[in-house]
Amino acid sequence: MSHEKLETNVGLMAIGIAIVIAIGGLAEIVPLMYQAETIKPLPGVKPYPALELAGRDIYVREGCYNCHSQMVRTLRFETQRYGSYSHAGESVYDRPFQWGSKRTGPDLARVGGRYSDDWHRAHLVNPRDLVPESNMPTYPFLAERALDPAQVQANMRALKTIGDPYTDADIEAAPAALEGKTEMDALIAYLQQLGKHRPKG
Ligand code: HEC
Repeated sequence: MSHEKLETNVGLMAIGIAIVIAIGGLAEIVPLMYQAETIKPLPGVKPYPALELAGRDIYVREGCYNCHSQMVRTLRFETQRYGSYSHAGESVYDRPFQWGSKRTGPDLARVGGRYSDDWHRAHLVNPRDLVPESNMPTYPFLAERALDPAQVQANMRALKTIGDPYTDADIEAAPAALEGKTEMDALIAYLQQLGKHRPKG
């Protein structure tokens, strides 16, 4: 009888469906919040040093993620091309994370160390000098812009308040690490460490 009531009443049915979906959603989401693997950094993964953090902000500001993902999937053709697949523990200090699936250009999760700093510099100034068929935009202006140490320190402080283990000494040392560096230097430092802490093998 009660089942018939439910099936003949659209309002009751909608409420019932919402409850069932909510239970399903919670069953998927809540365990993730407690699963150590998703919140524990892999060995060696630390908050970004000042220069790399500044570079990461430039990466986000310039929208590099519109064409580049940073997530190697668990598929053989991906791991053969890029290297070991991405683990959550590599991105613990990535806020926001750069995983994504939009790949106009190649995935960059493992690009660190693949090219020299000079290669990146030339490539960012004009990608077509190195890869004639490239449709990547040019970024020559990055080499002319200085970094703002006060801004980077403020970012580090903000990240510390939400739990990233920066020490006061890290934050105080930031201006020295950024001294004389351009936005281009910072972006390259960030690119060169991508994949540094990937699980080996
Ligand atoms: C409009 C799309 C687009 C945007 C935006 C873009 N790229 Fe690219 N990128 C590409 C394409 C396509 C390639 C492959 C051809 C080449 O190497 O230039 C590429 C290649 C690269 C490579 C070489 C990867 C490899 O494994 O060979 C790096 C590094 C790179 N991009 C960094 C960046 C950075 C940093 C930014 C932001 C400042 C950026 N890209 C923005 C399209 C883009």
